[in-house]
Amino acid sequence: MTADIENILADRDGAVATITINRPKVLNALNAQTLDELRRTVLALTHDPAVRVAILTGSGDKAFVAGADINELAAQTPTAGRDHAMSGQHVFDLIENMGKPVIAAINGYALGGGCELAMACTFRLAADTARLGQPEINLGIIPGYAGTQRLARLVGRGAALEMLLTGEPITAADALRLGLIHRVVTAANLMGESRKLAQTLASKPPIAVRYIIDAVNNGLQMSFREAQHYEATLFGLVSTTEDMREGTRAFLDKRKPEFKGK
Ligand code: COA
Repeated sequence: MTADIENILADRDGAVATITINRPKVLNALNAQTLDELRRTVLALTHDPAVRVAILTGSGDKAFVAGADINELAAQTPTAGRDHAMSGQHVFDLIENMGKPVIAAINGYALGGGCELAMACTFRLAADTARLGQPEINLGIIPGYAGTQRLARLVGRGAALEMLLTGEPITAADALRLGLIHRVVTAANLMGESRKLAQTLASKPPIAVRYIIDAVNNGLQMSFREAQHYEATLFGLVSTTEDMREGTRAFLDKRKPEFKGK
């Protein structure tokens, strides 16, 4: 899909793109090259109007992503470490704010940067064999791709501190119980269930989808009052779309709407 990309596979089936992190020999660990390739892939999909939903997964059946590449971490200087964390945060922010739903299909270990990557996605479906965690503490470091922040917001301060301070990975069942993931399925059904959800989301009006993601993500950075004003503005904007006319007319005509993203 994008030239000169080695460690990311990207393909598209209709409106659904699948992004696969493809370094199975190191359990899909994210080195600087892979992170940059992910950034370029995400930008290409963001700007491709044919793509309405993306599924993000890892190559092989063992790992989603086993974290940042520890070979690179071991050698980094303080200034390079800060730059590294900021570029990872930037890529994950791009995913969170793609304006299209991104489904993490967690097919195995989602540790460190892998758990952080999954948390930047809109949905998290996990195989029952998956393990999620933030084991950075055991390497003498802390998460650098916003893991301390997204984890605390998703599961609350208590459970986040427990995961961050013990470094112990948790099962998919426990992750579901904590609200860290949306659903657990068998490993064999993971991609099928992810595609089914992707198809449902792809049938929704894309501008309304984008504004919902925008209102939730940006609204959470604002005061409640500011966020309400922001929501009202987006509500006004979405009322100008052809899809709004189609959705309301189809309801009144008792037929299925056909949304065009206009
Ligand atoms: N960075 C670089 N290489 C990694 C890696 C990472 N984050 N995670 C795994 N690998 C490599 C291993 O070094 C090993 O390479 P080798 O075959 O050359 O020895 C290969 O991937 C397979 O991993 P291995 O540890 O042999 O598999 P396992 O089944 O015994 O254990 C894990 C799986 C996920 C428990 C273990 O690999 C692990 O703890 N990885 C690190 C997780 C982590 O701390 N992530 C946060 C980083 S900030």
